[in-house]
Amino acid sequence: MIYFDHNATSPIDPRVLEAMQPYLTTFYGNPSSTHRLGRASRTAIDTAREQVAKLIGAESAELVFTSGGTEANNLALIGVLNDNKQHVLYAATEHPSVKDPLTSIASKGFDVGLLTVNASGQVCAKELLAQVKPNTRLISVMHANNETGVLQNIASLTQALQGSNSDAIFHTDAVQSAGKVPIQFTQMGAQLMTLSSHKLYGPKGVGALIFDKSVPLQAIQRGGGQELGLRPGTENLAAIVGFGKAAELALQELSQRTVFLLSLKERLERQLLAIKGISIVAESVDRLVNTTQIVVDGMDGEMMLMQMDRQGICISGGSACASRVVAPSPVLTAMGYDKEQALSAIRISLGMQNTEAEVDQFCHVLADIIASYRL
Ligand SMILES: Cc1ncc(COP(=O)(O)O)c(C=O)c1O
Repeated sequence: MIYFDHNATSPIDPRVLEAMQPYLTTFYGNPSSTHRLGRASRTAIDTAREQVAKLIGAESAELVFTSGGTEANNLALIGVLNDNKQHVLYAATEHPSVKDPLTSIASKGFDVGLLTVNASGQVCAKELLAQVKPNTRLISVMHANNETGVLQNIASLTQALQGSNSDAIFHTDAVQSAGKVPIQFTQMGAQLMTLSSHKLYGPKGVGALIFDKSVPLQAIQRGGGQELGLRPGTENLAAIVGFGKAAELALQELSQRTVFLLSLKERLERQLLAIKGISIVAESVDRLVNTTQIVVDGMDGEMMLMQMDRQGICISGGSACASRVVAPSPVLTAMGYDKEQALSAIRISLGMQNTEAEVDQFCHVLADIIASYRL
């Protein structure tokens, strides 16, 4: 099998699994218990908090663990918006875990505006400033897009905002970029940042919200006082420990991972561009080192995906499957692709276990699928 779908999820690094195991067996205490087993669990969570905070240059006191990126995004948005006289802006290419909660509050009277992106999928500062209103409470722009890998220059957006009179809070979803590109939370100028463990070789079902202490963040669920009361509920101990270890490894190995993935991606893209009718989405802008999305003239992305699957190759399409109706990807349509082009897209997202031979085989299979379809 060839696995080229790391933006959907990544396999757990064996070193992460090893770090987690004692917390599923020997150290099972509830971190809120005052006895020794509870204290051991609490210490493990504190260590993980430091490891994750360090990955993005934040203070550990500014981080709460959640059940994943989806919950962290919901907490960032709904935990800040508390009055329906407030205005909120989000980029047209956001993940559904940002888009859907905002669409939902729009029905409660909140003024929710969409920031358009250019043909490369980026929000420009001028567009942002043109849309900011005196009552803009929150702005959400993702750091890296999950489909295209396009990176936003968040610092340039937050700087432009600081130069205006706006006191809007800036949130960025860094689920896809954390562990893949260097991040310094403070320098980026955002006050809220979302992370998820399973995109960086950690376990699924755990994420984090980073928040500047100035943000008046409110819990969106009620219960015990865990995670500063912002995320009540007994902590997912082993998963949090795994997230910490995965973050530590990602930071230690960031430059070697970057060199490896970049060379693999360059090999992939060189071969893809040699196949007639293929173009790379947002080819000329900054993208994640592991992500390539292509559109293929006259082809159907879902069909290519199924053919690939038959041959043991796992990739993703550029479509959203709702109620069994295949719809074009909202990310690509926001970038100006027409329906047919958007439905012809596939995404290849590489990981540390991949090899040059796999890349070559993938390109060979893809060229064959396209050639036999055209015949
Ligand atoms: C950009 C982005 N944000 C948020 C999420 C949701 O994260 P999780 O799967 O941890 O809920 C994903 C997952 O695919 C994502 O790609």
